[in-house]
Amino acid sequence: MKINGNGSHNELRFIDLFCGIGGFRFAFEKAGCKCVFSSDWNEKAQETYAANFGEKPHGDIHTVAVADIPEHDILCAGFPCQPFSIAGVSKKLSLGKAHGFEDKEQGNLFFTLAEIIEVHQPAAFVLENVKNLRSHDQGRTFRVIHDTLTKALGYTVYYKIIDAQTVVPQHRERIFLVGFKESRGFEFPEFPAEGPKLESILETDVPEKYTLTDHLWNYLQAYAAKHKAAGNGFGFGLVTGKDTTRTLSARYYKDGSEILISQGPRKNPRRLTPRECARLMGYPKSFKIPVSDTQAYKQFGNSVVVPVVERIAKAVAATLQRQSDYRPELVLAENDKANAEAAKRIAKPVSYFKTKKRRKASA
Ligand SMILES: C[S@@+](CC[C@H](N)C(=O)[O-])C[C@H]1O[C@@H](n2cnc3c(N)ncnc32)[C@H](O)[C@@H]1O
Repeated sequence: MKINGNGSHNELRFIDLFCGIGGFRFAFEKAGCKCVFSSDWNEKAQETYAANFGEKPHGDIHTVAVADIPEHDILCAGFPCQPFSIAGVSKKLSLGKAHGFEDKEQGNLFFTLAEIIEVHQPAAFVLENVKNLRSHDQGRTFRVIHDTLTKALGYTVYYKIIDAQTVVPQHRERIFLVGFKESRGFEFPEFPAEGPKLESILETDVPEKYTLTDHLWNYLQAYAAKHKAAGNGFGFGLVTGKDTTRTLSARYYKDGSEILISQGPRKNPRRLTPRECARLMGYPKSFKIPVSDTQAYKQFGNSVVVPVVERIAKAVAATLQRQSDYRPELVLAENDKANAEAAKRIAKPVSYFKTKKRRKASA
């Protein structure tokens, strides 16, 4: 890490693993960090990434020698979530396949990450995954991940489930794990109390091809009615501009059923356009979409919500740029004490280090 003697930094360098279309990259660049390596094996995602960042990511992470990955301060990874998601697990179980870490194709990508962390010892990492990573296999998967990062690799880890609906009009809960090599007083950023509504991202002039055919709309209504009668919650998600949507999934291209935009009683509802999906995920207007609608839906459904990661990126960069012995709770306690003393007109500034000594002495 480029830390100066006084603890301040130059530009922080990050790597963008399982980068998809670059949600992490937008966020960390906005926080003033510099990307030094990216990897994703999906050719269509590489195309979108290259159109937006002028650089094609490396392919399969297993084909890159860990030592060849450039030095970096922050490792970012929204590692593939399929083995950890409830849908993925139940589908795999029904097909008699293994899940979680037993899934040799996907689950062990976490250990690939762990190896990169072990070799490169970044000052920090930010990992993202689906919410139910926390509860998968009765909490065992998460415990293995947490123990690996803390006990085996020695990082201080903070984690939080964040719902993006306070920054975009979409209910999307994801777990973020933020780790620091040196213990630092990190706090997850604050989010607004209330988020925007769907009308803020809807386009006005939407081509007819996004309106559902009678055949598909009838099918979705019949399917929903059948499941409702059986007491299940399955069905489509019909919304208006005043609403917040359900979670956009990578399967949205199939029938769009999780987010259907009402067009009034006399017209079938429509899907979101890829541009609206980009906005729903918080991508800027300038974001280029060089691929087909199907690919674009898959890519946005797999992505992170940029403004969520932006806030985390800023908090991580600020934490790294602070001295490593900073302890917010002690500073607060000190402030309280200093205020009390000032009130008593003993205007003597108190230092954190003196308090520390006193605490030691009285222990
Ligand atoms: C959940 S998506 C991450 C999306 C990304 N965070 C974004 O904002 O767009 C996971 C990505 O991992 C990629 N992936 C899966 N296995 C990989 C591997 N072995 N090497 C490189 N990329 C891989 C997939 O192609 C997919 O784009």
